[in-house]
Amino acid sequence: MKIIKTVKEMQSLAESLRRDKRIGFVPTMGYLHEGHLALVRKARELADVAVVSIFVNPIQFGPTEDLSRYPRDFDRDAALLEKEKTDIIFCPEAGDVYPEGYSTYVEVKGLEDYLCGRTRAGHFLGVATVVAKLFNMVKPHFAVFGQKDYQQLKIIEKMVRDLNMDLTIVPHPTVRENDGLAMSSRNTYLSPEEREEALLISASIRRAEQLFKEGERNVAVIEGEVAKVLGSKGGLTVEYVSISHADTLEALEKIADRAVLAIACRVGKTRLIDNTILMEA
Ligand code: PAJ
Repeated sequence: MKIIKTVKEMQSLAESLRRDKRIGFVPTMGYLHEGHLALVRKARELADVAVVSIFVNPIQFGPTEDLSRYPRDFDRDAALLEKEKTDIIFCPEAGDVYPEGYSTYVEVKGLEDYLCGRTRAGHFLGVATVVAKLFNMVKPHFAVFGQKDYQQLKIIEKMVRDLNMDLTIVPHPTVRENDGLAMSSRNTYLSPEEREEALLISASIRRAEQLFKEGERNVAVIEGEVAKVLGSKGGLTVEYVSISHADTLEALEKIADRAVLAIACRVGKTRLIDNTILMEA
């Protein structure tokens, strides 16, 4: 496993690899868990060379968000990635990615107006910008993204289409703990009591899936039931519960087309998100 720390070195290695190898890429912010590792396995399966980036991207964090306390443990991440037979870890410095005078940003209009975009101003601008830059550095044929961050996935897919980027985005289903909690690097912030509260999120999703299976198509009814489950213990602050069109992310009233249920909540100081596709086609 190679550890590459500079943009220049990554680009020249990618250039020579591309001559006869397919490059699979998983961008991450580190503090890896089984969800990230499932993406790495997918990348290895699709490509000849698996590259994983670890970069806590400062420009996707708002001024009151958790950039400075975002969990980091490079040695642990490297050991996990070695076990997964990752070929390359790319971990550039922030100053190399955003040098003095940096001023170019990628804005995916429309999709960023919904869900998390409403409260996290500039977040998806930061995500799209760093992902576009990482694609230019790693030059992948495939890049794997988790459905856990559904809006992010849709924004990256749109960016790739709109900018004619020459790679395939591969979505990967959300990986969960045995008790249903969606894996997240931020779960490490949760106290045992908060973690217990957080289980209501996946429980509310299962409730929505059950209602949908029973034939319920009225969005207000399903969202109301989800809110009831989320509010049942009193420790969660709901930021949004939204059933939206699965491609445009526009809010729906009736489910008649591809639909996603997305939830964002706060448990103590920790913000958690989760989602499920209620209707596929
Ligand atoms: P990070 O939160 O580290 O996530 C990296 C990738 O892992 C994303 O594609 C995310 O959707 C996926 N992932 C996280 N938890 C998952 C889970 N439980 N199941 C499946 N996939 C999961 O997302 C980011 O980093 C950043 O925004 C990034 C894209 C790297 C840009 O900075």
